Amino acid sequence: MKLDGVVSELKALRVSKGLTLDEVAKAAGWANASIPARIEARDSNPTLRSLQRYAEAVGARDFRLSLRSSSPTVLTFFNHAGGVGKTSAVRDIGYTLMQMGFRVLLIDADPQASLTRWLGAFNDIKLDDTLYSAVLGEEDDLRLPQPHHVYGMDLIPSQMGLAKVDLQLPGVMMGLTRLKEALVQSQGYDFILIDPPPSLGSLAALASIAATHLVVPVPTNNKGVEGIPTVMDAVKQFRRATPKLQLALFLVSQYDARTTVDQDSLVYLSERLKALAPVSTPLRLRPGAYKRAALQGQPIPVYEPSGKAAEEIQTVTTELLTALGVNVHVEK
Ligand SMILES: Nc1ncnc2c1ncn2[C@@H]1O[C@H](COP(=O)(O)OP(=O)(O)O)[C@@H](O)[C@H]1O
Ligand SMILES: [Mg+2]
Repeated sequence: MKLDGVVSELKALRVSKGLTLDEVAKAAGWANASIPARIEARDSNPTLRSLQRYAEAVGARDFRLSLRSSSPTVLTFFNHAGGVGKTSAVRDIGYTLMQMGFRVLLIDADPQASLTRWLGAFNDIKLDDTLYSAVLGEEDDLRLPQPHHVYGMDLIPSQMGLAKVDLQLPGVMMGLTRLKEALVQSQGYDFILIDPPPSLGSLAALASIAATHLVVPVPTNNKGVEGIPTVMDAVKQFRRATPKLQLALFLVSQYDARTTVDQDSLVYLSERLKALAPVSTPLRLRPGAYKRAALQGQPIPVYEPSGKAAEEIQTVTTELLTALGVNVHVEK
């Protein structure tokens, strides 16, 4: 999903159609030719939206298709510990990626269904609406169900019955790779974000093995620090099933700058983890914003678009894209 090749292709299309930079700027609604010129020269870091405008201006109708044809990046937010910020991050980073112009699917793989509830009130989710059907449904039809549409994203929701997967999957031959197989069939997404339950059970393994990359949320407290060896051991096990699984980012969460425990943990984690994967700028502890957004059933950037919490989420989303080698930045 690197965008470098896309720019060359679009430029070639412009040249082949005999369009000047001025004509492209005019068609895209830009003030002058310097914007398309900078995109072509790659001395700017264009947003996906700018690229889309350029693509429309040169008549590249299949531009989105050309991104679509590359397989999606599947990000599982893994940490066996609960309360570390997995579900919040999937909701908010997923939303931010959608805002940047990416097509996003969220998968709630936790029977507690926090992600599902935090994105709106779903009272009547059936087991068939969840990923259950993709892993334990009819043998010859192991596909994800039709997603729900929430805040510009798609969502495979969850409900309590999904807990059955932890009980039933160990009895299924090659069961742990079923979600990975089902995702191969889900076309049309740039990013798929999976929110697993806080455990080392089958659902968490199924979700992690389906990923191309793991994002590991870590809070700046004792729980965060003490959990790292177990996280790394689990990653080692997941790699036995999916050797190319990459650790994309340690997402530092719930940082309370006023306490020495948090300050010390932040230093310790940053030093200790950077050899394994990039370590994000911390998301700060903001109980009010997180509680209220959850109660409203909204992602933080919807609930409080110009707040500090939303700003931090943009920062870590950009860091995540950089870690993934995707060359776009956030449009201010
Ligand atoms: N940066 C933060 N500041 C304050 N509260 C947070 C923050 N991130 C998450 N929370 C809250 O902490 C709790 C656990 O977060 P959650 O995302 O559910 O973690 P997990 O999915 O790992 O269990 C939730 O109530 C959530 O609203
Ligand atoms: Mg959770």
